[in-house]
Amino acid sequence: MATTDEWRRQHQRYKEDVKRRGKPFYPYAMFHDTVMSLVVVSVIIGLAAVWYYTSGEDPKTCGSGDSCLLGPRYSEPADPATTNFVPRPDWYFYFLFYLLRIFKWPDSVILGTVGIPTVMLIIAFALPFLDRRMERRLTRRPVAIVAAILVVISMGELTYKGAIAKEALASEVVQAVPSWAQRQGFANNAEAVAGAKIFASSGCTACHTYLGTGSSNQGAPDLSAEATRGKSKQQLMAYIRDPSQFGNNIMPKFGFSDQQLSQLAAFLLASKGPK
Ligand code: HEC
Repeated sequence: MATTDEWRRQHQRYKEDVKRRGKPFYPYAMFHDTVMSLVVVSVIIGLAAVWYYTSGEDPKTCGSGDSCLLGPRYSEPADPATTNFVPRPDWYFYFLFYLLRIFKWPDSVILGTVGIPTVMLIIAFALPFLDRRMERRLTRRPVAIVAAILVVISMGELTYKGAIAKEALASEVVQAVPSWAQRQGFANNAEAVAGAKIFASSGCTACHTYLGTGSSNQGAPDLSAEATRGKSKQQLMAYIRDPSQFGNNIMPKFGFSDQQLSQLAAFLLASKGPK
């Protein structure tokens, strides 16, 4: 621990240093900052110009007519009615994004999304008050260095995992239908297979898991063994037609036809859990 005396001496030395070798803020630091700001703004303007002049109005001409070096000018128009859009964060949020996969809804998700990042921020803020030694050499600060390396490694690992983590696209979920049919033993039940396809392509797996496919969100149950819950076909159809009638205000009304509802119910009634 440094003593008060030592701090005084250090402060004294600092003042003398400033007098001997220091430069006034104006104009030196002002000049530095101005030049650097101009450089940064020019780079941004330059990139914007490159993006604009290498891209055309039509994204389809990318690669043939326009090089689209920094991306196309416009991409596909947004579709507000989509149910199978797969949201992905920007790359610098991949580590947080991956934390969400590690922590499962609903028990520990608050810990993963709010708890851990907040604790890390508080530690970062508190650090100058905790570590008040004057030591700056890296070799004399093993705890701080090891902690910093561990943080960088774990964030790198999480970022990498977040980058390669695959969200099941609706088209990929549909490919799982034959294996579901086989494992549940409903391959010969055409109505159930049709229902499975609707289930796989309608976005149900955004909330429900089924034989390990999909992600469980907002407290939606696994539906692999829905048939064992004792609901009749009529009950299941009524439930899916309008979940809000059964106190479920999370699951959307999908607007299925009676035939589709019947197929979905047949699929769920053929889901007795894998053998
Ligand atoms: C936005 C999330 C979400 C989507 C999408 C969703 N569900 Fe649900 N679903 C839920 C939640 C949450 C519950 C549980 C509600 C409860 O327990 O009160 C539920 C419950 C159910 C149940 C009743 C389970 C039981 O307790 O017996 C069935 C059946 C069901 N969903 C089928 C479907 C089908 C079929 C689809 C696709 C057409 C679908 N869900 C899409 C959130 C969703």
